[in-house]
Amino acid sequence: MSFFITFEGVEGSGKTTQIHRLKKYLTEKGIPCRITREPGGTPIGEKIRKILLNPKFQGMVPLTELFLYEASRAQHVHEVILPLLKKGEVVLSDRFMDASIAYQGYGRKVDLKWVERLNRLASYGIKPDITFLLDCPSDMGLKRALQRIQRLKNKKPDRFEREQIEFHRRVRRGYLALAKKEPQRVMIIDTRQGEEKVFERIRTIVDKRIGLKK
Ligand code: TMP
Repeated sequence: MSFFITFEGVEGSGKTTQIHRLKKYLTEKGIPCRITREPGGTPIGEKIRKILLNPKFQGMVPLTELFLYEASRAQHVHEVILPLLKKGEVVLSDRFMDASIAYQGYGRKVDLKWVERLNRLASYGIKPDITFLLDCPSDMGLKRALQRIQRLKNKKPDRFEREQIEFHRRVRRGYLALAKKEPQRVMIIDTRQGEEKVFERIRTIVDKRIGLKK
């Protein structure tokens, strides 16, 4: 059964851990599923990711940033997501179009109408069936992300992790506004309740929705 699930959230929200847990759970149930990510997910997208996250490119203007995310997205949808959905697989994406609304729209203040139009174009009109918004206060998430980087010797904060806290607060406000606008699709999960409880919520929602689609 084809099903498209995305994971979103501020930096350090723990979405990567949860996406892997969900993949393991679905695989054990015999449901074919694949993890992918944005920016990235294809050889071209992974090159674009390197440009986007490179802290050397401090001078990147918001529109260049938006176009690069949308370019990565167009390739990703065409090359990976649509073919997998056509094969009847469950696709789990670590970020997707909502991130452009939150980061480029709210964070960088690009006109939301333009972000929405480019999102529609780059995603060939598809939308996730469910989006999990892993939510926590921005300063808490950012602190966690920076602590993780410190533990990894070869990693340095990327261009976004170096942004001011006010930028990250706008991003969070953007995500919460999206969830309010589309409550059927975007599920807010408070990550302060801990990894186990967060996964329980995700599992319950997925079981129910996938069961309904069968
Ligand atoms: P990641 O750290 O979750 O892999 O995401 C990389 C960064 O890219 C993260 O800081 C969020 C940012 N981002 C955007 O600004 N816009 C987008 O459309 C996407 C997909 C990610």
